[in-house]
Amino acid sequence: MAIIRTLMLATAMVAAAPATGQDLVDPNRVPPSQDPARTANGLAQTPPMGWNSWNKFACKVDEKTIRATADAIAGNGMKDAGYQYVVIDDCWHGGRDANGFIGQDAQRFPSGIKALSDYVHSRGLKFGIYSDAGTKTCGGRPGSQGHEYQDALQYARWGVDYLKYDWCSTGTRNSEEAYAVMADALKAAGRPIVLSICEWGSTRPWLWAAKIGNLWRTTSDISDHWDGKHDYALGILPIVDQNAPLAAFAGPGHWNDPDMLEVGNGGMTDIEYRSHFSLWAMMAAPLIAGNDVANMSPATAAILLNHEVIAVDQDALGAQGHRVATFGTSEVWTKPLADGGRAVLLFNRGAKPATITAEWTALGYPVSLALTGRDLWQHKPVGRVQGRYTATVAPHGVVIVTLRPS
Ligand code: GLA
Repeated sequence: MAIIRTLMLATAMVAAAPATGQDLVDPNRVPPSQDPARTANGLAQTPPMGWNSWNKFACKVDEKTIRATADAIAGNGMKDAGYQYVVIDDCWHGGRDANGFIGQDAQRFPSGIKALSDYVHSRGLKFGIYSDAGTKTCGGRPGSQGHEYQDALQYARWGVDYLKYDWCSTGTRNSEEAYAVMADALKAAGRPIVLSICEWGSTRPWLWAAKIGNLWRTTSDISDHWDGKHDYALGILPIVDQNAPLAAFAGPGHWNDPDMLEVGNGGMTDIEYRSHFSLWAMMAAPLIAGNDVANMSPATAAILLNHEVIAVDQDALGAQGHRVATFGTSEVWTKPLADGGRAVLLFNRGAKPATITAEWTALGYPVSLALTGRDLWQHKPVGRVQGRYTATVAPHGVVIVTLRPS
């Protein structure tokens, strides 16, 4: 009797279990990320360049700031230098409407996102936005989980060109599948939209994201410091050390992202900001300015507008440079360029000036080879050099040169 009652109870429990979408899925179905037909979206053949609101404005972002930023980028030479995407990070969101479509925070964005996107486009720039693969963004606004196709459609209607997609409140979601769902939703929405994967390197996206998105964060958030850990965020040096070993995974259309620039935000010296910018260029990192570009100093502008360093970052070969020699706190880095030349960086992490030598043997060149050098911060030729290139480098500074056969 007891056995029959237990069986009846078990049957009743099975029958009472609610049917969910997942019960109906074909168990042999290929998960979206593993679909053999999956291809990259073809965007971001060079590392994306632009501006993002987070590092300077955090949640205090509004349409006035975005308009002023677009005006500045269009008028101050940044657009001509290649800065293209104007991206609103977290906290633009309002609620969802009765049909589940996301809307903007009406106080901060009274004209609406479509009007703002139109404005950015009218300045000859592209427009980007932020969401999250979980139920809530990191700033507590509505996330896209369960609304991916609807959100992608809304972004396409608004004229969005770039989506940064974060990883807060994701519970037990699988990152590869979560990002693949949004990538498919963006494709289905029918507008070319760069997908910036922001799961902080937590599930090693360099191993799986090249066919899903265009760039992936490799570290925790950047902070405006030279070194160290600051709450959950990192200074420049630990970020460089985490991003550098991943060089092999970067290439046209899929980039390691050591996070957005802090140049001009006030926590470092101009020498340190030059190093930050040069290292990002050597690592073929996205160059997403994160300062108040409408009110920046001439020194900050001179860093962000260094066309010669930007050319290293944007080189068509798309190779991420790497460290070839370390002597105490001195380092030598190299990045191959599409025309057969190289960028070479001498980096002094130390607190005293250092004389640093890039030996041709370390670069893989024959010692007898004579090359033509050019200093990219001095904007001057350094003449013919053979066997090695040596320079004295300021504390926390860099010297960056190109070396070419002709
Ligand atoms: C995370 C991201 C940051 C920023 C914030 C917004 O921390 O890594 O870049 O987008 O969320 O809340």
